Formats: sequence, structure tokens, C-alpha cells
Amino acid sequence: MPSATTKQRLGILISGRGSNMLALADAVQGGRIPNAEIAVVLSDQGEAPGIGSAKARGLYTVVIERQGRTRDDHDNEVVKKLKECSVDLVCLAGYMRIVSSCFIQSFPERILNIHPSLLPAFPGLAAQRQALDHGVKWSGCTVHFVDETLDGGPIIMQTVVSVADDDTEEGLSARILEQEHRIYPEAVALIVSGNYEVSGRRVLRKR
Ligand code: GRF
Repeated sequence: MPSATTKQRLGILISGRGSNMLALADAVQGGRIPNAEIAVVLSDQGEAPGIGSAKARGLYTVVIERQGRTRDDHDNEVVKKLKECSVDLVCLAGYMRIVSSCFIQSFPERILNIHPSLLPAFPGLAAQRQALDHGVKWSGCTVHFVDETLDGGPIIMQTVVSVADDDTEEGLSARILEQEHRIYPEAVALIVSGNYEVSGRRVLRKR
């Protein structure tokens, strides 16, 4: 981990809209993630609207499309770029790809993800739809470390959102997204601060 005096460099990976990326950018700019700077916003999709929003903020952006390559070949190029940018912490923010073990091993316990459900419930795609179909009364979102399991790494932060009887996927997704924008920066700030320890599966705040 870099010393307390150097800023930690965030690499944010997106595939689409990029609203969580913008929430992180706002938080860095507003001093809510102290000692951090955004080194790069990287997308695997050239058409990702988030790339335009990041550019409009003056952030450095890179597109690395898969172009029919294997996951490992694509990930190797992504990792190379992140290392070139001296990234310390990788934040997946709507990055619609499963990252390979070589990627994970290149950033051990330094890759975070935000997922729109209360994990371990409803991992994978369309988590809000899964929650509605299952009939849960509460859902929410989770920030977790990325390991080799699907949305299964140690949980850093969660928040709950109630599910109303007349909820639609759009309505529930919008209320969860609002909370995502709140807790992702908080979780990144915690990890950047180093004020935590991982004990088995538990991520504990140091006192
Ligand atoms: C969010 O709901 C996030 O939890 C999920 O993908 C969505 C990305 O939205 N992983 P955005 O691109 O950050 O707006």
C-alpha cells in the first residue's frame, strides 16, 4: 500500500452509463475520498456513455475492447494499462465482464465492485429483477472485494432498500442506484484510508 502521504491512484472500469464512476469522481473532487486521485477511467466498450462523461470531467479515459480475444489476453492488456497508469486500487463500476484470475492476482485485495443487491442474494445479472421475482421485501446494494467467485468476495459495505408491493424493476433500480452512489464512495474512502482489516470473510473497521 502506498504511504499515507502519496495519493492512491484509482482505476475505474466501466462498460456503460458510468453513474457510479461519476459518483466516485464527485467524491474525489469534493474531498470525500481523501488522499486519492483518479488515474484512469477504462471501458471495454467504445460506445459506453460513461466515457464521454469522464472526458467531459477532464478525466483520462482509455477504451480496450475485447475484439474476439480470450478473456486472459484482453485482461492482460487491461492490467498492463492499469499498471502503466500506476493504479493502486481498481474500482469496477458497471464493468460487465468477469475478471480473470491473472487480473485478480495482479491486484490482490485491491479490486472492488458494486452490486445492486444484498449479496450473497442475487449475484450475477439483473439483480433487481431477481429480487422482485423472488418476492423479497428488502433489497439493496453491496460493495465487495473481487475474488474468483461471482460477486462472492468479502463484503465491505451494504445498505438496504425496501421493496414496495407496486415496485417495478426501473423504480427499484433507481432507488438502489441512489444508495450505490452514496456507499461506493464511502467504501472506497475506507479502503483508501487503510483503516480496516480482513479477517476471514469479514472486513472490519479498525477502531
Ligand atoms: C449499477 O447498478 C451497478 O451496481 C452494477 O451495474 C450498474 C452500473 O450503473 N454493477 P452505472 O454504469 O454505474 O450507472
